[in-house]
Amino acid sequence: PRTARRGDDGVISIAGIAATELADRFGTPAYVIDEDDVRRRARAYREAFSQAFGDIGTMADVYYAGKAFLTSHIARWVVEEGLRLDVCSGGELAIARKAEVPGEAIGMHGNNKSLEEIDAALAYGVGRIVIDSFEEIERVAVAAAKHDLRAPVMLRVKLGVEAHTHEFIATAHEDQKFGFSLADGQVADAVGRVLAHPELELLGFHSHIGSQIFESDGFEEAATRLVALQLDVARTHGVELPELDLGGGFGIAYLPSDTPLEPADMAQQLARIVKTACDDAGVAVPRVSIEPGRSIIGPGGVTLYRVGTVKPVQATDDLVRSYVSVDGGMGDNARPALYAADYHAALANRGGADDLVATRIVGKHCESGDIVVRDINFPADVADGDLVAVAATGAYCRALASQYNHVPRPPVVAVKDGDARVLLRRETIDDLLALEEE
Ligand code: LLP
Repeated sequence: PRTARRGDDGVISIAGIAATELADRFGTPAYVIDEDDVRRRARAYREAFSQAFGDIGTMADVYYAGKAFLTSHIARWVVEEGLRLDVCSGGELAIARKAEVPGEAIGMHGNNKSLEEIDAALAYGVGRIVIDSFEEIERVAVAAAKHDLRAPVMLRVKLGVEAHTHEFIATAHEDQKFGFSLADGQVADAVGRVLAHPELELLGFHSHIGSQIFESDGFEEAATRLVALQLDVARTHGVELPELDLGGGFGIAYLPSDTPLEPADMAQQLARIVKTACDDAGVAVPRVSIEPGRSIIGPGGVTLYRVGTVKPVQATDDLVRSYVSVDGGMGDNARPALYAADYHAALANRGGADDLVATRIVGKHCESGDIVVRDINFPADVADGDLVAVAATGAYCRALASQYNHVPRPPVVAVKDGDARVLLRRETIDDLLALEEE
C-alpha cells in the first residue's frame, strides 16, 4: 500500500486523509507520517530477518537507527513491532528513556561519545555500546567501573569497502572519521585493549558501509572481512565473538523509477552472505544485527507545502523553467542542498492541467541552493495557494531540519486509521526568541 494516493476528485490523500484537510487543520508546511507504513516496515524487517537467520541457525536483531527520525512515539512504534533502538547521542538516549524503551533493547553509537553520554547509557543499562576510537575504549571502561558493571561493547571497523553512494554518506572507505582502520593494525590493537579490560565484554565487530545503498555486494564484502576478523580473534586470543553487526544503509525509492530491495530479499541475501563467509572461514555463525533507519521511517513520510509564487525563468537558450516557490525548503529538507538528493512531488489539492512543464520546486530561504525538487514536469497551471506533496520525506528531513533564516520548523503529524495527531508541534517565532538572553 502506498502512503499517498490521488482520489477521483484529484485530491491526494495521505494514509486516508485528504491533503486539503491536513493543510487546513495543521497548516503548511507540515510533515505527515503514515504510522501504519512505519509499523509495517518495522514488522517486515523483524519477520524477514528472524526467518532468514533462523534458517541458518542463528538469531538476528533489527535496531531502528533513530538518527533518521526519532520522537518518543516513533521509538514506541518500532519497539512494539519487535525492533530494538540505535541511539547516537545523549539526546536520542533521552528520547528512548522517555519512551521507556528497555535498556537492553538499546544500542549506542557515535564517533565521539562524551564520558557523560557513555555514563548515561550505562546507567540506563543499554545492551551495547559501539566503540569508535581508542579514547572511547578508556571512557567506557571508566564509566563501567563507576557503575560496577561489565559493559557489552562492539568495535566499529573501517573496512575500506566502496559503497557506491554519495561521498558524504559513504562511511567505510579509508579517508573518513568512523571506526578503527583495518589497514594499519588498529583493529587488532583495539581488540587487545578491550580484552585487557575486565570491565568490558567484547561482543563482536560492527561495520556500516554507507547509506541509500541498492546493491548487496558492499555488504558481502563487509561480512566477509568481519568474519575474517572474528577468525583472527579466535586464533590470537582464543575468544569466540558471539555477535556481528552489518549496520544499516538500505536504500529507498525517492523517485518512481527507484527499485529498492525488499526486506525479505535483503534478509535472505545477507543470511546467505554471512553463512558462506562463516563456513569458508570455519567459524560458528554469530548472532547478527542490522541498523536500518531510512528504510523504516523514510517512505511513510510526506511533506505538504503551499505554493506562493510561480516564476518563469529562461534557464538556458532553449529552456524556460518554471520556478515554483513553496512555504518551506532547505530548513525542513536539507538533503537536496547537502547531497544533491532528488525527490518526487505532486500537486496535492487537485489534478492540475494535463499540460506539464519543466519545473523546479524551490523554498523560501535566502539561497539559490534552496531546492525542494530539482527537475520535475509539473502541471502548467500550478498557482499561488495550491498544495504540493513531496514523497519519502520521513527520514533525515525533520531530523536534519534547521531554523535557518529564523523560519520555525514545521509540525510532525501522524496519521493512522483516518485519525491525525500531532507528534511534534509547529515551532513558533516565540520559541526562537525564547533562546535569547536579555
Ligand atoms: N548505523 C550507523 C552506524 C549509521 O551511521 C547509520 C547512518 C545507520 C545505521 C542508518 O543508516 P540508514 O539505514 O538510515 O541509511 N543524513 C544522510 C544519511 C546519514 C546516515 C548516517 N548514518 C542522508 O540524509 O542521506
